[in-house]
Amino acid sequence: MSGKIIDGKEIANSIHESLKNEIEELKSKTDKVPGLAVILVGDDKASHKYVSMKEKACKKVGINSVVYRLDANTTEEEVLELIDKLNKDEDINGILVQLPLPNGIGEKKINANILPSKDVDGFHAVNTGKLFLGEEGFLPCTPKGIIKLIKSTDIEIEGKNAVVIGRSNIVGKPTALLLLRENATVTICHSRTRNLEEHIRNADIIVSAAGVADLVTETMVKDKAIVIDAGINFKDGKLVGDVDYINVKKKASWITPVPGGVGPMTIAMLLENTVEAFKKKWS
Ligand code: GUN
Repeated sequence: MSGKIIDGKEIANSIHESLKNEIEELKSKTDKVPGLAVILVGDDKASHKYVSMKEKACKKVGINSVVYRLDANTTEEEVLELIDKLNKDEDINGILVQLPLPNGIGEKKINANILPSKDVDGFHAVNTGKLFLGEEGFLPCTPKGIIKLIKSTDIEIEGKNAVVIGRSNIVGKPTALLLLRENATVTICHSRTRNLEEHIRNADIIVSAAGVADLVTETMVKDKAIVIDAGINFKDGKLVGDVDYINVKKKASWITPVPGGVGPMTIAMLLENTVEAFKKKWS
């Protein structure tokens, strides 16, 4: 039996639909709509594409998005000045600085200067600290979306062996913390892990966020595992994940495709966080 596909695009679309209704309701009560500011510095092609997708999604649900496309020569000081202005702007509920940033602009410094109450990416130390402590705060979008995708299968997470491949601050580490919050037994694997296969073979839930095409193959995966592919790689000019999808699908109970799995959920969670920020301020 072949695994069932977790359709991230469809799940994201249904989230868009309910956010759209909620925003209409909020607008009728407050006479305002949520506002998201996106700052993009430089010419990274993928970043420009992601930001356009975020902009389009905002429009679809009724969030007012303002995108600042800044020259690669923009200084850290200039970006910080813009963040300061947006922090003070009542019409802006969320601020997102697209990563990666050009050399010379420090990611840590940038994230530290966004107000935690507008940090819809969940990258500020206050929000990552709250995640660590199990307190309520903005959750980073990709990990939050990954948990929703796993929950959409109706398979219980509690007590399961979960393996997260990758230890980035954006995806791997926070995903592991969220799985722990759901009472999974969590293993984090990374580039220095010995016997990666052994760990993966033991997993009921596999989340791969390594950025290595074809890293997870059929022989490594336990029968009926849930496989979430958060990898973004280009192979022969095509967007692929970390998982050998065609073959792993034969073994998994559920699997996410790339594209159409984790990606659309990341954007849906950004919209959700922006609406959450708006509600905290106005209702
Ligand atoms: N670059 C890749 N993923 C992300 C993300 O989730 N947020 C931001 N700001 N930049 C990214």
